[in-house]
Amino acid sequence: MSGMDIKEALTYDDVLLVPKFSGLHSRKDADTRTKLTKNIFLNSPVISANMDTVTEADMAISMAREGGIGIIHRFMTIEQEVAEVVKVKRAESYVIENPYTILADKTVRDALGTLSPKDFKGLVVVDKNNVAIGIITHRDIMFENNLAAPVSELMTPKEKLITARFGITMEEAKQILHGHRIEKLPLVDSDGRLCGLIVTKDLVRLEQRSNAVKDSKGRLLVGAAVGVKDDYLERAAALASAGADVLLIDIAHGHSDLMLNAIKELKKNFPKIDLIAGNVATAEGVKDLITAGADAVKVGVGPGANCITRIVTGAGMPQLTAILNCAEAAKHFGVPIIADGGIRTSGDLAKALAAGASTVMLGNLLAGTDESPGFTIIKNGRKFKASRGMASLTAQMDRKLKTGNGSGDFSEIVPEGVESIVPYRGKVSEVIAQLSGGLKSGMSYCGAKTIEELHKNSEFVKITDSGRKESRPHDVDVS
Ligand code: XMP
Repeated sequence: MSGMDIKEALTYDDVLLVPKFSGLHSRKDADTRTKLTKNIFLNSPVISANMDTVTEADMAISMAREGGIGIIHRFMTIEQEVAEVVKVKRAESYVIENPYTILADKTVRDALGTLSPKDFKGLVVVDKNNVAIGIITHRDIMFENNLAAPVSELMTPKEKLITARFGITMEEAKQILHGHRIEKLPLVDSDGRLCGLIVTKDLVRLEQRSNAVKDSKGRLLVGAAVGVKDDYLERAAALASAGADVLLIDIAHGHSDLMLNAIKELKKNFPKIDLIAGNVATAEGVKDLITAGADAVKVGVGPGANCITRIVTGAGMPQLTAILNCAEAAKHFGVPIIADGGIRTSGDLAKALAAGASTVMLGNLLAGTDESPGFTIIKNGRKFKASRGMASLTAQMDRKLKTGNGSGDFSEIVPEGVESIVPYRGKVSEVIAQLSGGLKSGMSYCGAKTIEELHKNSEFVKITDSGRKESRPHDVDVS
């Protein structure tokens, strides 16, 4: 080994961003829109980690509402993972895919019995073939005393019924609803069969959450993780047909034969769905994954809060250098990279993006929120939530027990992660608001209005121990 040229590698605490002239008048002028993958854009550069103490449906719903995205973890059955994706896809939509219906010869009493009077907003009236033949709304029956009256007498009849084709865009729907001054728009197929319903109130509610990221049907975006072995193709097929917008191929050492093979197979089988692949920590890793077909590459070997990979294996790369090298390589392909692990503050987030990442993945910072799976725990009078590395002893034991592999023989497990507790942090929206505010200020210090400008304008300086001490509160009592 003598004569080996050992390079220096740095992480977040080793550097600071050089303050630059800023043309921004307020941090609100900073625009955090960014690319998740080649084809998917986010309004916020924050992704929740595919860990079982971080992202299931509740987390993914909140993340997408905040403009980021959640990646559902894969440490459950295919059916369970699909169910989590479906929950996100149903959380918000401008199309109700299975609207309540009633047959025309039923009575007002039947109509009211379908839903409680408080919830009765309207029913699409259909014939036996599910063809839409009318609509009956709250206003039609509000003052009707004869509960035995048939629905057909009170409904808006077929001649006056306004419908639209399934697949209509939100804008088109708005124009029809406004043009006819109606509040409900049944969607039908070419035979007139009912396929969905659009309701004005849902559109208004959706528009109020302007930062949320949505698919073409107005549903929140969500990603889902798959592995590289066993059932991964079957899992990917089920997740794609449940509506997952992006698949994340997730293994600890992503610069590997197994990963390249999985990317190629998934691209071949599901050419329309974007793939995130990782994790890697070198330019070579990035090039190989992109050449195999990755639409985004996840970067980070060992920086995570619950990680002990570097201690157990001796391998890893300080995260700032990993991002700098990987971003430089990815830039030539126009493929974004995700900085995964080790983000503790909004300052780290700004540094990760300034180093060239387009988004960051957070585990620990989100594990203590209301939306992460699991309960709060009280310890010494303070609230916490449980967190764990996905390669921790208990996570690996759980997987073996669930899959029946090893039937209780845990002696071969070599953990590369730990179990921990994290302070309870309230709602995801509160955490993201703090991170986003800090990031926007950081962008302003770099004179960057956009993430792209942040990539171009940023300059780092390496700091010493004294600089680090100076950066934190000092010579004051902050207890
Ligand atoms: P943070 O610091 O945000 O990092 O909690 C989240 C990322 O950590 C990675 N991860 C692990 N890495 N052993 C590891 O070496 C583990 O057991 C482990 N579990 C999660 C993962 O990349 C995640 O997104």
